[in-house]
Amino acid sequence: MTSSPTKKKDAVWNAADYAANSVVQQAWARELIAQLHLRGDEHILDVGCGDGKVTAEIARAVPRSAVIGVDASQQMIAFAQKTFPAKKFPNLKFQIADAREIQPSMFDNHDAVFPPSPPQKEERAGVRRRLVSSSNPITPTLSPLGRGEGEGLQRFDVIFSNAALHWVDDHQAFLRGVASVLKPGGRLIVSCGGKGNAHDVFLALRPEMRLKRWREFFRKMPAPYFFYAPEDYEKWLPRFGFKTQSIILAPKDATYAGRDGFATWLRTTWLPYTQRVPESSREEFIAAVTERYVAKHPLDTDGKVHVRMVRLEIDAVLGAPASGTAY
Ligand SMILES: C[S@@+](CC[C@H](N)C(=O)[O-])C[C@H]1O[C@@H](n2cnc3c(N)ncnc32)[C@H](O)[C@@H]1O
Repeated sequence: MTSSPTKKKDAVWNAADYAANSVVQQAWARELIAQLHLRGDEHILDVGCGDGKVTAEIARAVPRSAVIGVDASQQMIAFAQKTFPAKKFPNLKFQIADAREIQPSMFDNHDAVFPPSPPQKEERAGVRRRLVSSSNPITPTLSPLGRGEGEGLQRFDVIFSNAALHWVDDHQAFLRGVASVLKPGGRLIVSCGGKGNAHDVFLALRPEMRLKRWREFFRKMPAPYFFYAPEDYEKWLPRFGFKTQSIILAPKDATYAGRDGFATWLRTTWLPYTQRVPESSREEFIAAVTERYVAKHPLDTDGKVHVRMVRLEIDAVLGAPASGTAY
């Protein structure tokens, strides 16, 4: 059976290509890591970890703890596991998981390297902890304590996510999930495409897509990216028990090495568009979009192509931060 061009397709990542051509995303990730001021003993979950190189950088910053990277792409996780084998990177694990389906029980198999957090003070005193229910995010339910029901392990100090969440349609499902695995006072730090992101690229892409040459491949194409605004998160965060520290739309200048660098970026990350075009003419499509973009945004004197990006940057804590935390 041939697949219809109108059907929603999951992006198939070329993890090695992404790994070799993602310095821009890596630079943003480093800015985010720096904001964490890590002590070295925090347990961290990296959501949408991709090829794993950013997750590995985080793991290096927490030598007395462990980091788990999750990603929906089987290609990305296989690449990350191969590049960062458990033997050489004992505090770094990867597993396939959808950002919309995070729950405590999915980390049970990491107990050997990633012990569950000690019971909270109030647990020891026999007080039931408030957990965010997956069925009703607005009214947290009371949950039985301890293990065995897959909901007693709020083990992460930090949830980290870079350059991934704009691929996710349901951000509230993401928030519900991460709230269930974060320790009280734990921190959520996110950078992803925000409202207005890469607007000029869409202005080059859309007229090309409409040409007779390509149009059949893009018919009824569903929106592949979800660029939200601070107002969205201001509404959503409190529903899942988060207290906002800051939410901003940060304009960023992404630079690429000439036409080739820009085209490589399209090839490696604009998959929902490029992969609709048959492989035999994909390079032609990418080159045409590149020409349109460069015609409007010429190379600078160093031969660089600039793209105005807008990142949605979120910094929040779950519940009230405990006194004396670094956050
Ligand atoms: C541009 S890459 C970013 C990778 C990495 N975080 C970095 O900074 O280089 C986007 C990643 O988001 C992942 N992703 C997209 N949708 C996802 C979802 N629903 N759940 C988990 N990961 C997802 C993709 O598979 C891809 O690896």
